[in-house]
Amino acid sequence: MCEITKNKEEIRILGIETSCDETAAAVIRGGREVLSNVIYSQIDLHTIYGGVVPEIASRKHIDKINQVVEEALRSANAELKDIDAVAVTYGPGLVGALLVGVAEAKAIAFGANLPLVGVHHIEGHISANYIASPTLEPPFLCLVVSGGHTHLVNVKDYGEYEILGRTFDDAAGEAFDKVARAIGLGYPGGPKVDKISSEGNPESIHFPRAKVGEEGYDFSFSGLKSAVLNYLNSCEMKGEEINRADVAASFQQAVIDVLVGNSMDAVDRLGAKKFAIAGGVASNSHLRAAFEEACRARGVEFFLPPPVLCTDNAAMIACAGYYEFIKGVRSGYDLNAVPNLRLGER
Ligand code: KG4
Ligand code: ZN
Repeated sequence: MCEITKNKEEIRILGIETSCDETAAAVIRGGREVLSNVIYSQIDLHTIYGGVVPEIASRKHIDKINQVVEEALRSANAELKDIDAVAVTYGPGLVGALLVGVAEAKAIAFGANLPLVGVHHIEGHISANYIASPTLEPPFLCLVVSGGHTHLVNVKDYGEYEILGRTFDDAAGEAFDKVARAIGLGYPGGPKVDKISSEGNPESIHFPRAKVGEEGYDFSFSGLKSAVLNYLNSCEMKGEEINRADVAASFQQAVIDVLVGNSMDAVDRLGAKKFAIAGGVASNSHLRAAFEEACRARGVEFFLPPPVLCTDNAAMIACAGYYEFIKGVRSGYDLNAVPNLRLGER
């Protein structure tokens, strides 16, 4: 265990995130104060392909990573000598993309003689709530909904997680992206479905709400996605015009009902007092409103990061890295990218 003598409020962590298509670096102080949060989004490069192309993502990370790290230090008014540790996402994610961030972090840690802390991407998403809500402390329940993950997590303590439910197939964000493509909204689909849904009737088409797993905390979205595709096909066969706003709103409502339903079952059964959401899909305006309402009805305190901290960023990685760092967790120079890293494993 490494003894930390410095005042914890003054500890500065440089965070690096490259697990998917955002090249990001950030500096935070005292765990929760964001001094800089630089995000280079590659989204325009991938849009023409209708999704993230791993090879292109890795190459672009290589192009951008040094510039993004320099900018994060500059806008935090910091130099490497002011930094106490480097935290980096080492999984899960795209292996080639993760490797760029891991190699960068190792090089900086070695060159500047700084401790290195490998961070789990989902732990980062959950930690975005600590930045957004300075008074939030574990325990709480957190629903992590992103393009790659749908996890209902019992956050027992800092770095201590129990996964209550997970998706059996598609992640929630993946379902948003696939349905958006099917109704011709393009990529990335989530924000577009969110927007167009406001003009549609969520009760116009009934799509299924899957109930899976023993305790009912697990999720399945592939049946819902197929139901939407079948609906679109049958309209086409009958020569009926599709109302895209109605399809989007009805699909989105089915996702929201399942996410809120399973989460609130867990809140009720475990007697949780605090509930949080995280991940890219957590920036969905209708989902935020539905959780707000469900938590208010139960007298449960509700936490949610602003959209910029929901989608991939490095401030959340630096925050998660801070709590690992003060516990004494350190990674070696043999730190490697682990594309299927499980939450709670090191
Ligand atoms: O957390 P994130 O940036 O990356 C991953 O770790 O996957 O999440 C990206 C996902 C995409 O599937 C995107 O469509 C979805 O989050 N998303 C949304 C919204 N904004 C982003 N889904 C629904 N509504 C939104 N407003
Ligand atoms: Zn993510």
